[in-house]
Amino acid sequence: MDESRLVAAAVDARRNAYAPYSGFPVGAALLSKGGRLFTGCNVENASYGLTVCAERVALFKAVSEGVREFEAIAVACGDAPCSPCGACRQALNEFAPNLKVILADGEGRRWEVVPLSDLLPRGFGPADVPR
Ligand code: THU
Repeated sequence: MDESRLVAAAVDARRNAYAPYSGFPVGAALLSKGGRLFTGCNVENASYGLTVCAERVALFKAVSEGVREFEAIAVACGDAPCSPCGACRQALNEFAPNLKVILADGEGRRWEVVPLSDLLPRGFGPADVPR
């Protein structure tokens, strides 16, 4: 799947964002290695701290359906591209430290591509936990 289709899916998912408190809707589209697409949007809550970001909604949808290997994620938000929060970087790193991250504006007019490893250098991952 090319970048523009992944961005378009994130833009589409953004329309479902539940963001009455921040007024900042975000959409995400996560592409698995097998070519499946999982979308997500931010879901806020009156108890603000319970908010879940679009990226983690997409990730948890995929993992809950048995998919754990990923190629790329597109994130669509705001007037300019924004970057996943630290919690989402960490959550994505668990499954896909080499993930391609596509940062797009809310309309999908422009985007940039950055490796997750640039966003989370020397991330803490499964290999760091003694088992
Ligand atoms: N948010 C995301 O969904 N993803 C990001 O990458 C940045 C922040 C959400 C959380 C909250 O609902 C709103 O954006 C403002 O922080």
